[in-house]
Amino acid sequence: MNSTLYRAWLQYSPIQDAELREAYRRVLGTISLEGRRSELLDSAIEELRSGCRSLLDIEPELLLLGNEMPQLASNEGISRGLQLRVQPADNVQDLEEGNNSAPGKLGPEGFRLEYLEGKGQERVILIGGSEKGLLYGVFHLLRLVAAHEPLTAWNVTEEPVNRLRMINQWDNADGSIERGYAGRSIFYRDGRFTEDLTRVKDYARLLSSVGINAISINNVNVHEIETRFITREYLPQVAQIASVFRKYGITLYLSINFAAPLHIGGVGTSDPLNEDVRRWWRAAADEIYSHIPDFGGFLVKADSEHRPGPFAYGRDHADGANMLAEALKPHGGIVIWRCFVYNCMQDWRDRSTDRAKAAYDHFTPLDGRFMDNVLLQIKNGPMDFQVREPVSPLFGSMKHTNQVLEFQVTQEYTGQQRHVCYLVPQWKDVLNFDTHADGQGSYVKRIVSGSLHSMKLSGIAAVSNIGDDENWTGHTLAQANLYGYGRLIWNPDLTSEEIAEEWTRQTFGNDEAVIKTACGMLMKSWPIYESYTSPLGVGWMVTPHTHYGPDVDGYEYSRWGTYHFADRDGIGVDRTAATGTGYTAQYFEPNARRYETLEDCPDELLLFFHHVPYSHRLKSGKTVIQHIYDTHFEGADAAAELLVEWASLEGRIDPAQHAQVAARLAEQAEHAKHWRDVINTYFFRKSGVPDGRGRTIF
Ligand code: GCU
Repeated sequence: MNSTLYRAWLQYSPIQDAELREAYRRVLGTISLEGRRSELLDSAIEELRSGCRSLLDIEPELLLLGNEMPQLASNEGISRGLQLRVQPADNVQDLEEGNNSAPGKLGPEGFRLEYLEGKGQERVILIGGSEKGLLYGVFHLLRLVAAHEPLTAWNVTEEPVNRLRMINQWDNADGSIERGYAGRSIFYRDGRFTEDLTRVKDYARLLSSVGINAISINNVNVHEIETRFITREYLPQVAQIASVFRKYGITLYLSINFAAPLHIGGVGTSDPLNEDVRRWWRAAADEIYSHIPDFGGFLVKADSEHRPGPFAYGRDHADGANMLAEALKPHGGIVIWRCFVYNCMQDWRDRSTDRAKAAYDHFTPLDGRFMDNVLLQIKNGPMDFQVREPVSPLFGSMKHTNQVLEFQVTQEYTGQQRHVCYLVPQWKDVLNFDTHADGQGSYVKRIVSGSLHSMKLSGIAAVSNIGDDENWTGHTLAQANLYGYGRLIWNPDLTSEEIAEEWTRQTFGNDEAVIKTACGMLMKSWPIYESYTSPLGVGWMVTPHTHYGPDVDGYEYSRWGTYHFADRDGIGVDRTAATGTGYTAQYFEPNARRYETLEDCPDELLLFFHHVPYSHRLKSGKTVIQHIYDTHFEGADAAAELLVEWASLEGRIDPAQHAQVAARLAEQAEHAKHWRDVINTYFFRKSGVPDGRGRTIF
């Protein structure tokens, strides 16, 4: 496959501007590489060459300058073209020690790219902190070419802010993908590993191009076949996948079944304190590392939504995680233990239990008990990837525990890649949230980068949104979420607009009208989606199980702990300490007080924290009920408008890309009306309050 849809943001579209093309050709026509060849450098060179071929229609001359590692400053010998170098190993600053300040030295994943001109000579120097850094630098360089950045602006030094930059596949061996909206798995089919790994390689290129350095390749819900991935039976195939990703600097992880010793080990128990169980995991780890020496470690969903875990044996999460950590430790592996733990068998009549409180209640008492190669993976919000929810109060609450933030790129609750919903602005809100854990400035981004509490291990993970659809992500505009996720976690200070523009230029080309319109559409897409779905932070109201489309009471009388409590007088969940579930008290001050107080609670989260009458006035001056009506009418109109805006780009972008997005936007416009009418009608019938503007409510 080599279509525009498939190439995603690695289009490398031919540069038409003759002057610009000549300028790039002058410096990219000769590529010299100083240092030893390696898999990573081969990937870098292969990418550069194919990029040059496609963008500039040239076959660059490649000069290999031997094994000598030259000094950083030395550039005698060659005085033109692109010079690639890897910083000598002993110059790589010791990131383990968190020493980020050594001047002039690059971290192992960093790179410096510089355009130099003088004495009639032009050259570009690209230095990687390691081979991996160089590979990232190559992708960055190609990004600049694709965006038509003038050479004189090529002067950047980049270091990733987060150490672990991970993607989680929720792929099953049968080829299905849990919460996948873009076709079937590219890894498995009918219980077996895919034989043709071309697509896996192209996925690795996409991920590496935005700096992702870790992947778990199977669903966190580990079923029968996948339980055996850690055994001799499957490890050769897992190792093959690992070798594809390794060439792009991506380390492979597996989701494991906590009950594996019981199910496949013949041990008779999975009690983490049982010596036979511990021995079994040590042997399993030894076996894994004999196949994959640089295996990353385990991702674990335990005691969550019926998955087995330590609770069955009266043990806690620290016992469970440490047992696995101990097995991986001698090999340098890590355990990523998910905090998505709550009672999914709740009685809806029970108003005292609050699912939002569960993760904090389970994990904060364990702070300090986890081994240093355990990381806790925490979803961005306390519930489950809703279109709007507050930031999880766990961030910053465990100062002696490594933390990983989990986002969801797959749009489970945000339109399932049938609606456009650019999520980078939502993620930025999370990263920029000030937890006040250590006073003002204790932003989530500083907690997960490890800088606030000087953690050696930390980072960000997210559930992938790709499948085997030609365009990877179902909706072509959803490619921007995968791209944006990688770019944002590399540098959380990039703006949503910058990321949208980068993606648009690389994906659709540099026509200014296209950039303006497409970026504008991306930027308003999350607010639009929110406006016609569940209001004011209350969440859910989706069809049970599929989670697509409106069903206001779908989860209202169920066991999942996700209620809105709408009655004829009002709506919302009272999570205050004064009269509600007490959830607000899990935050540090002043956040706790802000959420607790009706007057201070931000409008967009009002119904998450408070139960209010429909007549309650928002800061906007509108009543809650009028806000619901207005946003739903406006949201459906805005969704229809997206289609009109996109239509204006016909002829300006590739027809296949245009048609694909147009079809999805048409579906969204129709479906947004459905949402509008279901929600408005529901609240009109409940409250009896008519729309102040007399619009049609059914
Ligand atoms: C959500 C999702 C599940 C998933 C779970 C998880 O509840 O609907 O499909 O397994 O999250 O994150 O583990």
